[in-house]
Amino acid sequence: MALRCCGAQFDPARERRREGVEEPFCPSATGRRVVNHTGGVHSGLAGSAMVTFRSMLEEDIPAALTLWQGLPGIGLRDADSPAALARYLRRNPGCSFVALGAAGELVGVSLAGHDGRRGYLHHVAVAEAFRGRGIGRALFDRCAGALRAEGVEKINLWVKADNAAGLAFWKRVGGSERTELVTVSIVLGDNPNA
Ligand SMILES: CC(C)(COP(=O)(O)OP(=O)(O)OC[C@H]1O[C@@H](n2cnc3c(N)ncnc32)[C@H](O)[C@@H]1OP(=O)(O)O)[C@@H](O)C(=O)NCCC(=O)NCCS
Repeated sequence: MALRCCGAQFDPARERRREGVEEPFCPSATGRRVVNHTGGVHSGLAGSAMVTFRSMLEEDIPAALTLWQGLPGIGLRDADSPAALARYLRRNPGCSFVALGAAGELVGVSLAGHDGRRGYLHHVAVAEAFRGRGIGRALFDRCAGALRAEGVEKINLWVKADNAAGLAFWKRVGGSERTELVTVSIVLGDNPNA
């Protein structure tokens, strides 16, 4: 239940997200998502491994960069330096999430934030061995929930034009392609890789 505190919305679930509380989840090998509230491995799903979700912390940045670096669908720039990513997380607490495998290794990540008006998602990625089990959707759901709790009603994101699989994923989770728009970038300063 949302409570009002000092004129601002206080939402206990949101506070737990900010603190990085882990939520267990048992991804289905067949794509059907099964939430496991007990924290144990769901024995009825062959090929499943326990995955937990929690808010992304600064300490997750090196593993997130390792995952992103090998993926053609993810474009990294100087804006994705560890320091810049840490700044992004501090500006948008509780909005970004990671999925962790049974050994605590990072197997998925979704960077999210907002500017007070629109929400943005960046670099949503799941390790190849863990794809097709609902983890990408679960990461998106958590980011969307966090942004909604901040009063954001629409998310914008960018997909590389040649990333057909990425676009298919976004359409499956409710996204609409905006063919009437093009992206315009203006580099402020002299770093062409900004
Ligand atoms: C895109 C990505 C995050 C999807 O992760 P995932 O865990 O495999 O996705 P999910 O299993 O949660 O799938 C969610 C839905 O998207 C669909 N989907 C996922 N990948 C798809 C693909 N390649 N083609 C078509 N549909 C796809 C699933 O069928 C599922 O639909 P459903 O829930 O209605 O059954 C993952 O493939 C990835 O990391 N890709 C490389 C990085 C990337 O391109 N990210 C997007 C940047 S814009």
